[in-house]
Formats: sequence, C-alpha cells, structure tokens
Amino acid sequence: MLRHSRPAGRAMIGAATAEPIESRPIPAMPPRPHRRLSAWELLKTASKNSLAICDEELFDELIVSRWYLLQPVIFVSDPVGIKRVLTDQFDNYPRVSSIRRLFEVELRTGTLASEGETWWRHRLVSTPSIDGRALRPDVPGLIALAETLAEALGPGPQAPQIDLEKTLVELAAPLWNHVVTGGDPAGLPILSWLSKVPRKPRLSDLLPKPKWLADLIVRPHRDPRIGRLDTQLRAMIDARREERYAGSKDLLWRLAQGRDREIGEALPASEVRDEAASIIAGGGSTSSRALTWMWYLLAHHPEVESRLHAELDTVLGGQPLRPEQISELPYTRRVLEEVMRLYPPIPAILRQAKRADTVCGHRVPRGAIVIVMPWIVHRHRKLWSDPDRFDPDRFTPENSVGRPRLAYLPFATGPRVCVGATFAMTHMLIVTAALARRFRVRLASDKPVVPYGAISLQPRGGLRVTLERR
Ligand code: HEM
Repeated sequence: MLRHSRPAGRAMIGAATAEPIESRPIPAMPPRPHRRLSAWELLKTASKNSLAICDEELFDELIVSRWYLLQPVIFVSDPVGIKRVLTDQFDNYPRVSSIRRLFEVELRTGTLASEGETWWRHRLVSTPSIDGRALRPDVPGLIALAETLAEALGPGPQAPQIDLEKTLVELAAPLWNHVVTGGDPAGLPILSWLSKVPRKPRLSDLLPKPKWLADLIVRPHRDPRIGRLDTQLRAMIDARREERYAGSKDLLWRLAQGRDREIGEALPASEVRDEAASIIAGGGSTSSRALTWMWYLLAHHPEVESRLHAELDTVLGGQPLRPEQISELPYTRRVLEEVMRLYPPIPAILRQAKRADTVCGHRVPRGAIVIVMPWIVHRHRKLWSDPDRFDPDRFTPENSVGRPRLAYLPFATGPRVCVGATFAMTHMLIVTAALARRFRVRLASDKPVVPYGAISLQPRGGLRVTLERR
C-alpha cells in the first residue's frame, strides 16, 4: 500500500514553495511496506528492487537501528549523522566489502573499488582530471555533438515510438567518448563494456559469507573480447604517457600525465588503467537515467514543462546553447535538482563500521552496516514538506533557507563525493537544452513506470515516448 500524503502536524525543516504547483501523486512507486520486513523478505526483495525494502518507519524516523539475523543495520537519514558517517569519520566507514568486490573485479585499484591509502592516491589524481577547469575546453565540442545528435533524432512526419532511456544512453556515449578519448571511435566499445560494470547484484552477493567463498563467486571475466578491450585501453594510456605524444589532451591524457598534488608522483601505468576504468564506469549511464526521469516528470507536469521551455526559448533565442549560457539556466537547473531529489540516480550509499561509534546518540556496533539512502533522505517527512510532490521551486535560494545542506545529497558528500558531479550536471544541461529546445516528449502509454534500484535507479522496462517537434 502506498501512502503519499504527509501526516498532519509534523514538524518540518525547509520551506515549501510560495505558490505550490497543484499536488498530484507521482504516478507509480515501488511498494512501501507498512511494517519492517523479516531478514529473509529483505534479502529477497533487495535483490529484485532495493527501493521496495524501504518501509514507512524509515520515512518517519531520522535514525533507525535494526538487527537482521545477527547483523546490525542502521539507516541514517539525519543530516548530522550523515555528516559524521560520510565526512567527519569517513575513515571508519569504508564501503561494504561484498558490494565493493563487484566493482573490484574489473576496476581493481580504481577509486570506485579501493579504500585507504590506495583510494587517496587515486583521488588526488582523478579529481583534477575531471573537475570544472579540466572540462572547460571540452564544452564547445560537447554542445556541438549534442546538437548534431539531437537533430538526427528527427522526428519525421510520423513520430515513431522510442525507448527514451535507451536513446539517451546511446546519445551520451559519443559525448562521454569525446571527454575520455577526444572522440577516438576505438573508445566507444571500451565505454560500452565499462558502462555495464558492476553487474547487477544477486541474492548470493548480499548474503554474509567468508572471503574465500566471496572470491569464488565474484570471478574476473573470461570473455576474450573484454580482454582485447582492456589491452586497447592500456595501449591508449601508454601512448599518452610517451613524451612524443601529440594527440588529444583528453581525460585519458590527463590521468596518464596526472600528478599527485601532494607529492607530485604519477600513478603507475597499471593504476592509471584502473583509475580510467573506474571513472569511465562511474560515468556510464547515471546522468542519462536522471534525464529519463526528468522527461517522465515533465510529461506529468505540463506547467513545469512550459516554464522550462520558456526559459530555454528566452535564453537561447532558438540557437544552440553557448558555453557561457550553461550558468544562465536557473530554472532548468532547479528542475534537474528536483528530479534527482525524487529519483536519485544512486539511491543508496552503503558503509560498514570498522570500529564501534555513536551517531546522533545511537550506538553503532563494530561491523554494523550503515545505510544512507538518498531515496529515503530525499523523501523524508521530517526533512521535506509534501515530500513526494514534484516542485522544482523548492530549490530557489529563498525556499532553501533553513533546509539542512545534507537533506539533499544525490552526489553523496565528504571526501568520497562523486568525482563526476560537475561533468554530470554539465552533460545533463547540454542534453536538456539540445533536446527540449526542439522537442516535446509525450509518453506513449499511461502504463505506470515503476522505479527500481539496483546500483542505480532505473525505470523498469524503459520509458516509451514519442518526440514532437515544438
Ligand atoms: C547524475 C549523475 C551521477 C550521480 C547522481 C552520481 C552519484 C554518485 C554517488 C552518490 C557516489 C558515491 C557512492 C558511494 O560512495 O557509495 C558517486 C561516486 C562516484 N562517481 Fe558519481 N554520480 C553521477 C555521475 C558520475 C559521472 C558522470 C562520473 C564520471 C565522470 C562519476 C564517477 C564517480 C566515481 C569515480 C565515484 C567514486 C568516488 C570515490 O569513491 O572517491 N559519477 N557518484
């Protein structure tokens, strides 16, 4: 049973919109159990849809401590607790090893798979390779590509039905390849391979088990095609490490040439490969999924769609976006922020306590699994007013006053904050501008689209739409 209305009289942090958009339930949601699930129900449900384990209590209480079999599990949604786990004591809360192992098979020492000193060395090199300054020279090329690809989508006189999620993922690949390899066509199959990392977790991945058994279950691939792609990736990096290299100064080049800011050392070649694989995997399809949800919500909220179109029409005047205009689209940015609140592309951040700790007065035993779920935090009844309502104006500066910063964390927070956040926002704004200035997206069916969470949050069965020329 779903419950969308907010219980009356509850204290609220954060302001509501001055002129609220008509309140409408979001069309489809995963089931929200009224009682906590048993350990067995939880494991079975989590392997199908991690969102469907979230019972009503989790949206009402800021810290919920539970035991499942002999495993303590603590859901932390209190912004003060989130800061302690992900920032102040982040060393005490590494990633859960069974999930990390899924990444480790292909990404080895890359930031998505490593911890401690190795992670830190990598992070010092990876952050400046993909931050705003590093990306600036790529932006004009990204806009030009997005324009060409958007124009090629048509539609002709009879707009065909498309799967918007698939289309956006396909459209993102050349853009991402432009950043990673400077547009080398040989990069595309490498991106395609790494966009599927990690594979979807299975029930056996979630069950507690000794390390030898875990290693046996999660084995490196034996597919010779993947071996060839890996060799190709290494060759591209080797070329960029050579002094006489005169090719494009892309992400692979920045990683190959990157120096640790503190001690000025480059990563060894094998670790550059791992870091490149990690960033490429991280950049896979997360932003395209967020864009899919954006058009889904716009189709259900024509008044928001009109305002977004009006902003694009006014700022762009019918012309392609110019790089300096990326910061001149405040409403479009708010729409994206609100989309990632309701449909956080990474719905759960899982950690495991190395040592016992206390979070907001609650004891965290050693070995406890600590879960910060943007999916819960972003719809929490003590943090947001009318939390299931889509309202981009929540993010105006005046409506944000008083809201704790960590009531919203689509890109996580702290030292392990998403390294690709700037690229993700830039990509989403560029693609939105290129598509929404041309097309109106219409849902092809009123069949409900249910979000499901694996590692990322996806529309089950994709999203069938038609594109209408505006
Ligand atoms: C809308 C798009 C995106 C969202 C919402 C998102 C969200 C996140 C979140 C929540 C984390 C933390 C996960 C955890 O600690 O368990 C993360 C980490 C990471 N993300 Fe993203 N991400 C997005 C796009 C990207 C892109 C485009 C890239 C690559 C350019 C990327 C690369 C990474 C990497 C490498 C990490 C690991 C950082 C570390 O552990 O130090 N992400 N992301």
